[in-house]
Amino acid sequence: MKTSATSDLPIGVFDSGVGGLTVLQALRAALPGEDLIYLGDTARLPYGTKSPGSIARYACQATQHLQQQGIKLLVVACNTASAVALEALREQMAPLPVIGVVEPGASAAVATGIGADHLVLATEATVRLGAYRKAIAALDQTASVRELACELLVSLAEEGWTEGSIAVDIVSRYFEQLEAAARTPDCVILGCTHFPLLRNTIARVVEPGTRIVDSASTTAQAALAMLDSLHLRSSRGTAGSLRLLATDGAMRFARVGGRFLGASLSADDIELVDL
Ligand code: DGL
Repeated sequence: MKTSATSDLPIGVFDSGVGGLTVLQALRAALPGEDLIYLGDTARLPYGTKSPGSIARYACQATQHLQQQGIKLLVVACNTASAVALEALREQMAPLPVIGVVEPGASAAVATGIGADHLVLATEATVRLGAYRKAIAALDQTASVRELACELLVSLAEEGWTEGSIAVDIVSRYFEQLEAAARTPDCVILGCTHFPLLRNTIARVVEPGTRIVDSASTTAQAALAMLDSLHLRSSRGTAGSLRLLATDGAMRFARVGGRFLGASLSADDIELVDL
């Protein structure tokens, strides 16, 4: 296991499944010269309904696997794992850096306006821990934050049912759980890696003009800044490579993951690993 980084090592990216490919896509756009290893823990998806103890254990095992491959930076491309286990993963990776998606997502939200009224859509575990509420409060104490657990949206995104009347009805049903005043936020935060696929549907349910943000591009910018500050940017000058690892279901990973990555994948592109 490597505990010191050199610029020619890949960036490790980890998610509970394929949702983090939305973050991977942003990383590839921001850092085209970097090699990337993505690990989706598809055998144990979803994390969002599990206990903090299980989520932390799974996240530490996935991180250990990436450490064994040799990485210079870990991006935790999963809101739930970032909310539950970021500090544990930082200790495990030290002295190598770790970036989660919650803080970059909170920054993207606060950038839409100080004192804004935010609505966070996330998994049960992320909501239970108030991860976005705390991250936004650290940046803007005048903001108001409400959090709504929307587990079914994970399955909708996996199934590809992201547009049309069924998706609109389910998003609307979640919004009905909110008191009337909370249904018209200034900013909706997509606090789950799967939800960017439902952006158009969510936009149909909220008031026109509501800002909708996710953490993908701000996480990629944070990774770029981190590599720059540590002088760890690849200097090769050629396009970076991509390895895709999963803990189960190469065919499903390819089929569903292709939608999240915005590129066609085949089962042969996926390496199955045991954690
Ligand atoms: N990747 C998870 C997240 O961003 C969503 C899927 C899951 O529950 O594992 O919170």
